[in-house]
Amino acid sequence: MSLATFSRNRIRKLLTKESSMVLESRIPAYESLEKEFQGINEFGLYLHIPFCRQICPYCPYNKEIYQPEAVEMYTRAVIKEIDFYSGLFAGKPVTSFNIGGGTPTTMLGSGLGDILEHIFKSFNMQCETHMESHPNDLTPDNLNTIRSLNIEHISTGIEALQDKYLRILKRPYDKEGIKAAIERTVNKGFKCFNVDFIFALPGQTYAELEQAGYELAGMATDQVAAYPLFYFPYTEMGESAKKGNYNISNIFKRRRMLRILEEIFYGRDYERTSVWAFTKKGVPKYCSVTVPLYVGLGASGGSYLRNIFYINTFNVAEYIKRVEDGKMPIALSLDLSESMQMAWWLYWRVYETRFKRSDFRERFGKEFDEVYGKYVKLFSLFGYIKKDDGNEVILSDRGIYWLHALEDLFSLDYISKLWGTSKQEPWPEKVVL
Ligand SMILES: C[S@@+](CC[C@H](N)C(=O)[O-])C[C@H]1O[C@@H](n2cnc3c(N)ncnc32)[C@H](O)[C@@H]1O
Ligand code: SF4
Repeated sequence: MSLATFSRNRIRKLLTKESSMVLESRIPAYESLEKEFQGINEFGLYLHIPFCRQICPYCPYNKEIYQPEAVEMYTRAVIKEIDFYSGLFAGKPVTSFNIGGGTPTTMLGSGLGDILEHIFKSFNMQCETHMESHPNDLTPDNLNTIRSLNIEHISTGIEALQDKYLRILKRPYDKEGIKAAIERTVNKGFKCFNVDFIFALPGQTYAELEQAGYELAGMATDQVAAYPLFYFPYTEMGESAKKGNYNISNIFKRRRMLRILEEIFYGRDYERTSVWAFTKKGVPKYCSVTVPLYVGLGASGGSYLRNIFYINTFNVAEYIKRVEDGKMPIALSLDLSESMQMAWWLYWRVYETRFKRSDFRERFGKEFDEVYGKYVKLFSLFGYIKKDDGNEVILSDRGIYWLHALEDLFSLDYISKLWGTSKQEPWPEKVVL
């Protein structure tokens, strides 16, 4: 057993009291979903668009190459899936809405508008729309279409700013192309314009990152989400990687690189809004999940409803077939004990770099310190906590990095197992995490 597996097992047992977690091939009964929804006051919505014009060698997300026929059938299927939920939602407010992928902008002229219209007609949408895009899709016409769909927060994956790294990542544009796409987008009146950027690339030096960091900070975007390159075993780069995610020199290199970015962005009036994101002060952050409970639509959409987590099939053709047959396209589900729910809650709050004890009490009816107080004391000794006023806890930069590195011990392994299996088998019998 590797050190990573050993640590994972110990920590999971400590926090969730479970020796393993098993997602099973089971569609929750309609009545039990009804009961779950009755106990929820507000939730988030996620829509997955699983199409891209090319497949990038590092990308773990569920996607396939854009085909007009598949997209047409997908649109019809998503509209039907929305209809499954309209009774369950029962007019309760949807307070966060994110469209992710894949590449949602591939469907701008082919179905996305119809899906959005149906969502806004069927659900009580009390929020603005966030959407991911590809830099090559940010043309003047597409930007007008995006604005006409009332999408107010936009994100795009620029990934690198030096041509040699864009080539390593096999991105289909160069630095000049990025600059032009950004210039076109910043003047379009989005409330938040986020760019995704990947660092700790093979061979990347600290000086190269620093140069890219300064350029990024000077680019007039509202937010930069800077992720270290993660190696997912089922991707092209993951398969060929010699150094995996848990290699100790990788972990320290990522830390030093993130420090470089922290210094640059803090010096330019950005603040930390999640483990990897820096947002200009006063701008609402771009984020995929802003409320703790959510429903995911589309192939590979995942839903978390307090006592249950479930995930749709990843296979687009199977998703369409199942929905056309009048059934929910859920492939796997997992019942969550209270300890698991608490650990999940804490995971996301650490990701957001802060949490309030009062939110925990409101959600679980228990005192935060009774459950996790000893860890807060310990983390305070390590210098992981910047501020604790008795209610709100804000993590320090050191705490953000090291606590999240600990979380990645789980999330990267879970994603690799759950997404890796789901990519291979449309209806897996079970997945053991
Ligand atoms: C769905 S993609 C973004 C939208 C669009 N498809 C694109 O490529 O521009 C989400 C983001 O996740 C990040 N990402 C993907 N694979 C990653 C990996 N292996 N390691 C770190 N970040 C990754 C990238 O920054 C990427 O832009
Ligand atoms: S990085 Fe974006 S464009 Fe590339 S495969 Fe992933 S989702 Fe598609």
